[in-house]
Amino acid sequence: MDTTTNSKAGIASPIQDVDKSWDDEVRQLVQTLPKEESWIGGGGGSLYLYQGFWYIARYLKSMISFQTHFQAFDSDVLVASCPKCGTTWLKALTFSILYRDRFARDENPLLTSTPHQLVRFLEHDVYADNPCPDLENICVYKPRLFGTHLPYASLPTSIKDSRCKIVYICRNPMDMFISLWNFTGKRRDQNQEPPLSLDEAFDKFCRGVYLSGPFPEHVLGYWKASQEKPNKILFLKYEDLKEDISCRVKHLAMFLGVPFTEDEERQGVVEEIAKVCSFENLKQLEVNQKGLSRAGFPRKDYFRKGEVGDWSNYLTPAMVERLEKLIHNNFDDSGLVFKLSSKTSMA
Ligand code: A3P
Repeated sequence: MDTTTNSKAGIASPIQDVDKSWDDEVRQLVQTLPKEESWIGGGGGSLYLYQGFWYIARYLKSMISFQTHFQAFDSDVLVASCPKCGTTWLKALTFSILYRDRFARDENPLLTSTPHQLVRFLEHDVYADNPCPDLENICVYKPRLFGTHLPYASLPTSIKDSRCKIVYICRNPMDMFISLWNFTGKRRDQNQEPPLSLDEAFDKFCRGVYLSGPFPEHVLGYWKASQEKPNKILFLKYEDLKEDISCRVKHLAMFLGVPFTEDEERQGVVEEIAKVCSFENLKQLEVNQKGLSRAGFPRKDYFRKGEVGDWSNYLTPAMVERLEKLIHNNFDDSGLVFKLSSKTSMA
């Protein structure tokens, strides 16, 4: 990727100047923000509270570029989520559904590229090295498809004002917390940092201090927006996908404006997509086993257990009680219900 020049702007030096001035601006901004230690410790940088959510400084810079410069097209599709809620899965599904007529059925690009390479994060990746990236060349297929962990309120206005579509995935907060703790724990280990105890991590989680946290505000932002604009925002739950993937794949295709034809259904295309994107398939692919993600995490760590209810193997009764209270206090009036295991739900 070209990180210093921009073919649309045509000239290199202004971008370098913008970059320099952004650095100063971000440095000054960061000094004014509330700060906490990140989950991955030392090398991961601190977390800063900006526009009501927590980010590492490096992402703040690219996030501000994204907020300032991104111009949405009505045809764009955005995969949005809080980290560890099923982003990788939803990226794989959305890519496979949206572009299914662009490649042969046994040549899905997911077999050789990771979901995060095919559907790139705008604020963490696309805008990471360049405040004005050439978006046309970044997306191989059209319509353009991107990912984001930004909360709804922080999305660029052109996304909110245009007719572009957003698919959001959330997950019950107990499983999300355990997934996050395991994921960041491996990175600490890799960096030879002492582990963050479950108690310490739990306290941070309940205070909302983690990348793109707090969870309730993130989820409720998209939940409310999806209720106001159901044709623009599709709100999905990890647990529902686990329960009936074929039904969700068809729903997602319908929402994206590319419903499966009767012929496709007869030929088993829905089941084929569900299978290519399944945890079992993606996890074993060489491309997802080796190497590091753009954010520096081992690719294999994006695929851990892929289950609903794994929290019960970790959380103490006192932790469960505190999280149940957090769910009640934040979600009771919203109409949003979380499935905590393959059987139980919580309003
Ligand atoms: P666990 O840690 O509970 O296993 P994200 O993609 O947002 O980072 O979320 C990661 C979580 O989704 C991890 O959960 C991971 O195992 C799970 N996951 C990744 N790919 C999946 C897939 N294809 N199907 C179901 N779960 C998947």
